Amino acid sequence: MKSAKWTDYSVIASGDGYKLERWGKIILLRPDPQAIWKSSFDMEKYPGLCAKYERSETGGGRWKFFKELPSEWSVSYKDLKFKVKPMGFKHTGLFPEQAVNWDMMRSLISGAGREISVLNLFAYTGGATVACLKAGASVCHVDAAKAMVERAGENVRISGLAGKNVRYIIDDCKKFVEREIRRGRKYDAVIMDPPSYGRGANGEVWKLETELFPLVTLCEKVLSDKPLFFLINSYTTGLQPQVIKNVLEIAVKRKRGGDVFAYEVGLDTEESGVILPCGNSGTVIF
Ligand SMILES: C[S@@+](CC[C@H](N)C(=O)[O-])C[C@H]1O[C@@H](n2cnc3c(N)ncnc32)[C@H](O)[C@@H]1O
Repeated sequence: MKSAKWTDYSVIASGDGYKLERWGKIILLRPDPQAIWKSSFDMEKYPGLCAKYERSETGGGRWKFFKELPSEWSVSYKDLKFKVKPMGFKHTGLFPEQAVNWDMMRSLISGAGREISVLNLFAYTGGATVACLKAGASVCHVDAAKAMVERAGENVRISGLAGKNVRYIIDDCKKFVEREIRRGRKYDAVIMDPPSYGRGANGEVWKLETELFPLVTLCEKVLSDKPLFFLINSYTTGLQPQVIKNVLEIAVKRKRGGDVFAYEVGLDTEESGVILPCGNSGTVIF
């Protein structure tokens, strides 16, 4: 299990299907299906709790506010800065557990000693985009949701990276990669953080179990002659580390070599000995 050290974010407590989190000065209570244990106190009574995302019986849910909140605020991880706010699907616009991957990508890019071009697929609000730009890479950021791509642009700007080499693409990831192959474009690194289910820019259906392997196979074709890394992340309800490892072994390593490893990502909590599992990642390092 890999877990990053944050100062602007922490999990205060967890249990009963929820996690109590501090995002800067704002305290939120959000559902977490992995937190199947009993919480050690009534988290809804936590002093300073600002908002809770309540699940509805029929699926989905809504935010319930206990205090007046700024419409959005920012949190920092090291020298990276991100805007967050209560959004649909219990989201805040950032996945803090991904910081371990941001650290690893930054050190690989900085250590490469050459210009690195990164293709970031399902790139959402740009956590990985900001990290890779900070390390000096150029980034092609692809996501089907215009609003998320706009937020990524904001995160790039507030992280002091305006003017850096980034392309924002609002498109279906598979269609975009197919187009890049036809154009003969190459990238030194590929990152993908696909949802278990999603929609492309024109309603194309994305289903992890059936689409991931073909997409990874396609992406191998856009790797440059001297690739640096290939990283896949998947949420808790998604794929086990060994599944990600096998996909990378078969679709990437057999053709390009490299070392494949896979690991769980999680979040340390303020409760002794409790780490919240948040998903799994796998990486080929060439
Ligand atoms: C929850 S996010 C990934 C998290 C993000 N990489 C991070 O760690 O910050 C999943 C993203 O995939 C996008 N998406 C879903 N299906 C897609 C598709 N077929 N093509 C492009 N983007 C898609 C969604 O718009 C969403 O932003």
